[in-house]
Amino acid sequence: MMLRQQLVLVFGISLATDPCTLRSCSSEAQVSWYCNCNLTDVPLVPKDTVKLFLTYNYISQVTATSFPLLEHLLLLEIGTQYVSPVTIGKGAFRNLPNLRVLDLGNVKILHLDLDAFVGLPSLNVLRLFGNDLGDSILEERYFQELVSLEELDLSSNKITRLQPHPLFYNLTVLKKVNLKFNKISNLCESNLTSFQGKHFLLFSLRSNYLYETDKKAWAKCPNPFRNITFQSLDIGENGWSTEKVKYFCTAIKGTQIGSLTFGVHIMGSGYGFANLKNPDVDTFAGLARSDLNVLDISHGYIFSLNSLIFQSLGNLDSLNVSKNKINEIKNQAFFGLRNLRVLNLSSNLLGELYDYTFEGLHSVIYIDLQQNHIGMIAEKSFSNLVNLKIIDLRDNAIKRLPPFPHLASALLSDNKLMSVVGTKIAAMQLELERNWLANLGDLYILFQVPDLQYIYLKQNRFSYCVKRHNVIENNQLIYMDLGENMLQLVWERDLCLDVFRALSKLQFLHLNNNYLSSLPQEIFRGLTSLKGLNLASNLLSHLSPGLFPQSLTILNLSRNQLFSPEPEVFMTLSILDITHNKYVCDCALKSLLVWLNHTNVTLAGSQSDRYCVYPPAIAGVPLSFLTYEGCEEDELLEELSFSVFVFTSVTLLVFLTAVIVFTRCRGICFVWYKTVTKKIIGSHPQVADQSEYKYDAYFCYSKNDFEWVQNSLLKHLDSQYFKKNRFTLCFEERDFLPGEEHISNIRDAIWNSRKTVCIVTRQFLKDGWCVEAFNFAQSRYFCDLKDVLIMVVVGSLSQYQLMKHKPIRNFLQRSRYLRWPEDYQDVDWFLNNLSCQILKEKKVPKKASVIELQTVATVSHG
Ligand SMILES: *[C@@H]1O[C@H](CO)[C@@H](O)[C@H](O)[C@H]1NC(C)=O
Ligand SMILES: *[C@@H]1O[C@H](CO)[C@@H](O)[C@H](O)[C@H]1NC(C)=O
Ligand SMILES: *[C@@H]1O[C@H](CO)[C@@H](O)[C@H](O)[C@H]1NC(C)=O
Ligand SMILES: *[C@@H]1O[C@H](CO)[C@@H](O)[C@H](O)[C@H]1NC(C)=O
Ligand SMILES: *[C@@H]1O[C@H](CO)[C@@H](O)[C@H](O)[C@H]1NC(C)=O
Ligand SMILES: *[C@@H]1O[C@H](CO)[C@@H](O)[C@H](O)[C@H]1NC(C)=O
Ligand SMILES: *[C@@H]1O[C@H](CO)[C@@H](O)[C@H](O)[C@H]1NC(C)=O
Ligand SMILES: *[C@@H]1O[C@H](CO)[C@@H](O)[C@H](O)[C@H]1NC(C)=O
Ligand SMILES: *[C@@H]1O[C@H](CO)[C@@H](O)[C@H](O)[C@H]1NC(C)=O
Repeated sequence: MMLRQQLVLVFGISLATDPCTLRSCSSEAQVSWYCNCNLTDVPLVPKDTVKLFLTYNYISQVTATSFPLLEHLLLLEIGTQYVSPVTIGKGAFRNLPNLRVLDLGNVKILHLDLDAFVGLPSLNVLRLFGNDLGDSILEERYFQELVSLEELDLSSNKITRLQPHPLFYNLTVLKKVNLKFNKISNLCESNLTSFQGKHFLLFSLRSNYLYETDKKAWAKCPNPFRNITFQSLDIGENGWSTEKVKYFCTAIKGTQIGSLTFGVHIMGSGYGFANLKNPDVDTFAGLARSDLNVLDISHGYIFSLNSLIFQSLGNLDSLNVSKNKINEIKNQAFFGLRNLRVLNLSSNLLGELYDYTFEGLHSVIYIDLQQNHIGMIAEKSFSNLVNLKIIDLRDNAIKRLPPFPHLASALLSDNKLMSVVGTKIAAMQLELERNWLANLGDLYILFQVPDLQYIYLKQNRFSYCVKRHNVIENNQLIYMDLGENMLQLVWERDLCLDVFRALSKLQFLHLNNNYLSSLPQEIFRGLTSLKGLNLASNLLSHLSPGLFPQSLTILNLSRNQLFSPEPEVFMTLSILDITHNKYVCDCALKSLLVWLNHTNVTLAGSQSDRYCVYPPAIAGVPLSFLTYEGCEEDELLEELSFSVFVFTSVTLLVFLTAVIVFTRCRGICFVWYKTVTKKIIGSHPQVADQSEYKYDAYFCYSKNDFEWVQNSLLKHLDSQYFKKNRFTLCFEERDFLPGEEHISNIRDAIWNSRKTVCIVTRQFLKDGWCVEAFNFAQSRYFCDLKDVLIMVVVGSLSQYQLMKHKPIRNFLQRSRYLRWPEDYQDVDWFLNNLSCQILKEKKVPKKASVIELQTVATVSHG
């Protein structure tokens, strides 16, 4: 029901956008747009025009001859002229016999002939707001012939009295009268006899000066609304105190009103004005026979809800006391509200809820308590409200939840919940955003909430996991938002990897902004219905095939650090967002580029949001500008969209090239050189004695560097990644025997490989296993006189940082290390150099070994 209201609202707003902005000074499809056209007269428009817009012009006079006969015209907007006054003459609209809607609003000063509106028998809606009109507009016979009038807007004028002309007897279909923002001051002297017998859907006296009626006048005030009924009556914003409201309710005794609005008002003592009265048992007593359904006393200063104040409103369906200063709800405050279904107490100053607080609300289904300061809730506050379906406790200070009856929605965002252990709750929808939940183990508890289908856990503090329950099968959950937490901290320690295991009905999962730098391979196992997965704004650089469930169709990987994702992982999708990643535009990206060009997957974002980040020379260039024809030669060229420019500057370039060829283009030159030598000399250099070693090289690096090592080295060297790579490499993720002791894995790898390549990074130095492996590889130098260790330094590590570690210090004293190039174009050269090092057999000079042996001995003791 609420959803539909919202939809209508949204729709209404979109319709209400100023039609004048659409087109100007022309006619099309029976609509004539003539706003802002410097007109001083009505323009000539096609005879079949249905809608005519003439606002924002200089038309100062409309007479009987202004309009040609326009029999189809239904809507005319001629308000808001740049000149004033505007004079509307006798029979000004009589050539528009079928007009339904006439808008003359906001003219500032409007001079109306008494017969201005003759000849408009079909007019339904007349808008005269903001026109400086006085009492005469109601008291004279202006609307005499408007027998179809349903809606009259006279808001923002200068009407001071409510004594409409007897002609209103004849306006039998009048349903809506808007008198907002006028100056009607005395309701008691109103004479609404000509409104008698009418049923108004909407009658607004909001924001007049109705407070001026004095106490004595009220005492003998006849009911101004006698023999009138209202669907909705708005008398808010009239500065009424508790006493005035009481007089009014007494005076209108018996008048049937569906919905009555007093807010904004000044009832109540506020915070500390004890002399001002809060409403009490008498205040609304006069409404007993009005059959009120909706009462709105929001926006005021009520501090205390006294006992029995609503006892005479037995038919009330909805009560809105939001935005007051309610701090105290007395015993039996809601007694008598047998039929109340919606109670709005939002934006007050409530701090505690007691067992008796909601006593008497047998039918209530929705209580809105958001934006109070509720910290304490007594055990039985809600448990007797058997019909309660929605509880809104957002934005309070709750640390512990009381028991609830079986709910549809529990809205608990923006509180201080640190744990859900021991919570007794059953709900279809659970909102827990922005609480202080830190233990991911709480999810195993929440998954046991009966009927739970939607859970919102955004912006909590999930960062560790202690499991108290196990996964239960057959979970009903459909939607879960875990965005903006710290799940990386949980999963990097291999904790609670089975947290999603039983969610076989889950369709949408948000894991965005969780600092995730990698995903445990098994983490999504069990999510057999998952359709949408949001991994945006994490730190993911690599995705392994088989990670995502087969059912997945929508995947958001925007703003991660993907270098060159393999398209295989995207095969099941229909919508994919891979914008703003860190693409490395080399030939490894080819498969993705080919896929992007052909796929029928909908790619979110624009092409310019998918761009290269490395190499620096083409950083920022969209992927769609790249070609990969040269990729047989391991080179990716930017499409020559600059070719014209290149030709005109060719002379200059020849000179410049010569100068900077080495500094700038050494990478490309090197590739050319390789290609040429390859052609001349023939195939790869022979790999020496295959039989002796199982592997050419063991790559030793920190686990945290795996993605980088894989993308930068393994993919370019290891023959299992690409056939044309020449080496058989050994590395932990692939080649270590599971279950074997880690250290013996490392030893075996070193013994079975011709060379050991240590990728020394900051992470490497922090990792005890790495340094141990380094030490072990180095020891072979002494034991069997073979120099098997190749050290590659990556990143900005200073000499000092390296020297701190003894094994490395020893190595550096005798040997040189390789440094990963800072300039992207040097990478090929570097890889070639590394390949040579792997192939080279280095014998150890005998003399040296004896001396160094001692050093090693001390190292292993130390
Ligand atoms: C209206 O007059 C103003 C100023 O004379 C001019 O700038 C504007 O273009 C005119 N508008 C039209 C629609 O003729
Ligand atoms: C006001 O009320 C009296 C009777 O109470 C009635 O005679 C008179 O016509 C009413 N109308 C106006 C506009 O004063
Ligand atoms: C109401 O309508 C009738 C018939 O059309 C007419 O005779 C009468 O004068 C009208 N009354 C007023 C007050 O306009
Ligand atoms: C209410 O007003 C109508 C129209 O003026 C009249 O016919 C009817 O008798 C009135 N009823 C009462 C109870 O005054
Ligand atoms: C008060 O609540 C009712 C329904 O609960 C709603 O229609 C009305 O708009 C609310 N008033 C304000 C000022 O929000
Ligand atoms: C309660 O009133 C506030 C405004 O005062 C409004 O925003 C909210 O939607 C209302 N709640 C319900 C359930 O109508
Ligand atoms: C993916 O997430 C980003 C960042 O939150 C967002 O801007 C983008 O609209 C999302 N893409 C899709 C297709 O929903
Ligand atoms: C993209 O595909 C079209 C044919 O579908 C082909 O003509 C074009 O060369 C391709 N572009 C790239 C950059 O591969
Ligand atoms: C997308 O293309 C593949 C073949 O490339 C085809 O099997 C699949 O049905 C297509 N999907 C849609 C939704 O068109």
